[in-house]
Amino acid sequence: MNTRILSTSHLVGPSLAMLGEKFPKLSVLPFRSDAWNRDLDYVEALIVMLSEPLDEEDLKRCPMLKAIGTYSVGVNHLPIDACKARGISIVNTPGVLTDATADIALTLLLAVTRRVAEGEALVRSDTWQGWQPDQLLGIGLSGKTCGILGSGQIGRAFARRVWALGMKPVFWDRDASGQPVDFIATGNQHQHIAEIIAPRLPLEEMLRQSAVLSLHCPLTDQTRGLLGINELKLLPKGAVVVNTARGGILDEAALRELLRCGHLGGVGLDVYDGEPKINVDWLDTPRTVLLPHLGSATFESRSAMAELLCSGLESVL
Ligand code: DGY
Repeated sequence: MNTRILSTSHLVGPSLAMLGEKFPKLSVLPFRSDAWNRDLDYVEALIVMLSEPLDEEDLKRCPMLKAIGTYSVGVNHLPIDACKARGISIVNTPGVLTDATADIALTLLLAVTRRVAEGEALVRSDTWQGWQPDQLLGIGLSGKTCGILGSGQIGRAFARRVWALGMKPVFWDRDASGQPVDFIATGNQHQHIAEIIAPRLPLEEMLRQSAVLSLHCPLTDQTRGLLGINELKLLPKGAVVVNTARGGILDEAALRELLRCGHLGGVGLDVYDGEPKINVDWLDTPRTVLLPHLGSATFESRSAMAELLCSGLESVL
């Protein structure tokens, strides 16, 4: 087949190579390299990473484009309305990175609350003097309320995890029905456990109750800047905030201010506004754990994402 596909990167596992066997004109060229730019005239499908934003001007340069595949579940880096208007399909990777992303949110939560980075640094410094009654005391989680922003697959997978720690999950999402969220019933190995539901609360009420707040909603026009200083201040003193969704949903400067004045007890971030550039003020902000967008970074997830993306593109093409 003569269909031209342009991917900006190799993907994990065999799926991209298999797609290349069916579509021999598939090439891997770096994003916005001269060669990539030259091929836009003929390309029928683009594969990009979440760190490679496309805009409407790019679409105008691709007169034959039928599909854009993104190696991510998030699509906030793509011109969705312009794609719709031009009949260009978007293929993303929902469902197969749910557990991996919920796991990294849990990792951040435990790392922040149990001061894992500080403990590790102490041992590696070779200055540890031994067990002490009040050494590196952390924050207990059992019995506390965990506010979850977004009740999609990842939000509910995170709810299952914190529920297992003895926390009480509560949700906020754009659904204003007030119906509770069932966080067990979505086709997974826990299905035999009795149905467990959690309240869906108005945003301010959820924030007031949450000893932990974890973000699991997409970045859209509705969620950009959703949590500014006024919203974050509603969290109880000592609350911990974890973000594995997208940086632009909350105001990072407000988070740092609330950490520095002692209102927040800790912050764990996997995503940043404007990443991979990170505001340097994060680097010396205490009680933070910072990861480089590792949400879906397991071999299993990234292989499954590649498979889903390539099969989705094949069907469209
Ligand atoms: C995605 O795929 O959008 C996630 O951010 C991965 O962590």
